[in-house]
Amino acid sequence: MRIIIIYVLSCLISIHAQNRIGTGAVKKLYQEHCMNCHGENLEGGLGGSLTGYAETSENFIRYVKQGNIDMGMPAFGEALSDPEIRTLQIYIEEMKHEKIRENTKLLLTDKKNTFNAGGYNFRMETVISNLSNPWSIAFIGHERAILTERSGIMRVWENGVLSEAISGIPEVIARGQGGLLEVAIHPEYAKNKWVYIAYSAGSNMDEEKSASMTKVVRGRIVNNHWLDEEVIFETSDEFHHKSGVHFGTRFVFKNGFLYFGIGDRGAKEEAQDLTRPNGKIHRIHDDGRIPIDNPFLDIPNAFPSIWTYGNRNPQGLDLHPLTGVIYESEHGPRGGDEINSIECGLNYGWPLITYGMNYNGSPITEKTVGDNMVQPLHYWTPSIAVCGIDFYEGDAFPAWKYDLFAGGLASQELHRLIIKNNKVVHTEIILKNEGRVRDVATGPDGMIYLVLNDPDAIVRLVPYE
Ligand code: HEC
Repeated sequence: MRIIIIYVLSCLISIHAQNRIGTGAVKKLYQEHCMNCHGENLEGGLGGSLTGYAETSENFIRYVKQGNIDMGMPAFGEALSDPEIRTLQIYIEEMKHEKIRENTKLLLTDKKNTFNAGGYNFRMETVISNLSNPWSIAFIGHERAILTERSGIMRVWENGVLSEAISGIPEVIARGQGGLLEVAIHPEYAKNKWVYIAYSAGSNMDEEKSASMTKVVRGRIVNNHWLDEEVIFETSDEFHHKSGVHFGTRFVFKNGFLYFGIGDRGAKEEAQDLTRPNGKIHRIHDDGRIPIDNPFLDIPNAFPSIWTYGNRNPQGLDLHPLTGVIYESEHGPRGGDEINSIECGLNYGWPLITYGMNYNGSPITEKTVGDNMVQPLHYWTPSIAVCGIDFYEGDAFPAWKYDLFAGGLASQELHRLIIKNNKVVHTEIILKNEGRVRDVATGPDGMIYLVLNDPDAIVRLVPYE
């Protein structure tokens, strides 16, 4: 096996991008037009404090354009465009939550590795260490799991022992956010032993220049070798991109179908283009065939596996254990991370609508709502850099059963979302500053397992009285 590892600057940029709360072009805009009256930290002055301000984007834009001249709030309709005013609202949200976050940090950090959140006392135990950029974990019964590391290594963990790298897995382009990504076992693994992986596949072997695209294969692991490989999903070279970002993935198996996401690959307008595979959630049979009832088969040249479109960078996908609805976490632009429920044929709006702005604080659009475009069930401003999600199905934390857990990379947070009737009715932070949370999974022992980056480890949350 040859592994291509190229570390480029884009990787570093993407790691730090989500931490830019209160920075960039939007900060300048705020300082120039608003700070004199509303204070450096929104505390107010000539104008009121903005820390309690909560309005829809439409109301905010209308108000700031018109001002309230009698009361001393100038009209900005001439000086600022709608998209610029929208970035100022995102900035105000970022600054507002920065304060709340600082306080949460104090509440949740405990030196003895014990925590109290969401009604439970729990410990964090390291289960596996000595990994490099772990991305995904798939449990096979008790005390056995398959793990991927982004550089292109897959290992089996059994009874506490981590195997050598499995030989014979495909070559990956481990550049930027790409590499070996998701791993999952077939729902009937006991019978068929199929293991599915997703990774960034190259167009050619030119290590630095190769364009790439997300590819899915399945195979079997026998004596630490990868055998019987079958291609489940791949695209021709014309769809490959040179960028090192937004590969998406994660798998959900449902009724014989396989669902997975591909991010927009940094070409945001292609998320709206049905002839392109990027910026979409796909649905295929678990052997790779195209289902005859996929929603866009009648549209000329549409990519046949598309199930939904307008998805920026799907980083989490899971099935609600009771309703069977598929939920997705989408790594958004700055201030625009989302949770969506995924339904056949719908448009999730990226980049025509979004709650975010560019990482440098410049606008994308002022529009957060659009005709025939789905609203997220939840969004985070500021972004948490949302990643893997999991509906908790264990018994160790009974009060959390069927709640959705979402990991955050840059924020180093684990969030709990209570979902009722397809609405997010409560969110809270369960863990903070213990590492970048790449993925979340319910373990066979009922504990909550986290795939952490920095420190690179698999840990589990264990309740105690
Ligand atoms: C010259 C001083 C001044 C400047 C500059 C200014 N504001 Fe104001 N702003 C005010 C005052 C005074 C009020 C309160 C008006 C009122 O009571 O209706 C206000 C109110 C507001 C409110 C409503 C707050 C609430 O709680 O209802 C928002 C939102 C707001 N300003 C945003 C902005 C933004 C964004 C900018 C920069 C583009 C800005 N302001 C610049 C003076 C200012």
